[in-house]
Amino acid sequence: MNKDLVIVKLGGSAITYKNKAFAPRKGVIETLAKEIKELLGEVSLVIVHGGGSFGHRVANQYSLDQGLRKSGQLIGVSKVRYRMTELSQMITGEMIKEGIPVFPLHPSSFVISSSCKIRLFFDKPVKAALEKGLVPLTFGDIILDKKKGISILSGDDLACRLAINLKALRLVYGTDVNGVYVNTPSGDKILAKKLRVSELSKVRFCSAGVDVTGGMRHKLKTASDAVKAGIKVLIGNITVPGVLSNMVLEKPDNYTVLIP
Ligand code: IPE
Repeated sequence: MNKDLVIVKLGGSAITYKNKAFAPRKGVIETLAKEIKELLGEVSLVIVHGGGSFGHRVANQYSLDQGLRKSGQLIGVSKVRYRMTELSQMITGEMIKEGIPVFPLHPSSFVISSSCKIRLFFDKPVKAALEKGLVPLTFGDIILDKKKGISILSGDDLACRLAINLKALRLVYGTDVNGVYVNTPSGDKILAKKLRVSELSKVRFCSAGVDVTGGMRHKLKTASDAVKAGIKVLIGNITVPGVLSNMVLEKPDNYTVLIP
């Protein structure tokens, strides 16, 4: 019997120090690799990671979220690709240490956007890798854009699109906060264990560091598309050991589940 498929996004705020240049959270990445190894006994996984202080910093420095406007930005495009590859390589290395048959795939080679919206999405390599028992690993990236020259593809969008195309059971967004906080009528802020996408206007957003793809607000907007496609979306703090595993298997813990 085929195992259930879960798409996991390892947020940049969890796997890097967002306010420190090119600084991976090595301990967190090691623990996550161990959890992922265990999880593969129960589910199939596609892993997507974010940019954190590797991607966003350089993208911001060269205003790459605005598209390609002057030739001086071109070297910035190369630098973002370099830094994202560097981070992905590091994560690949940690996964190999755990014996995970990871298969890195670069979105710049299989996704093209138009005005920052995904237009061409060649997901066959992801599907073929999964069928062979490999674990696809991909990431938020800088990609070519038909209208703007280039665009930043957020790992959140990529993970959502993969979840829909591959008919995943769950989509897990791992970040460095416990989930989504909402305001109660008395003004307190509490973690929403379950959140209806129709109630998103009530949520309180928190974000830290430089993020050119929009943080929690963007995550929730993106996640709504997956929820509408019948996929359960879970958001939680993967820097806390065990939370990633509990979200992937939908076991009780502190996290937010998005429902229709
Ligand atoms: C951003 O990916 C990738 C680049 C800036 C090139 P994400 O938007 O998914 O990254 P995080 O998770 O917010 O750091």
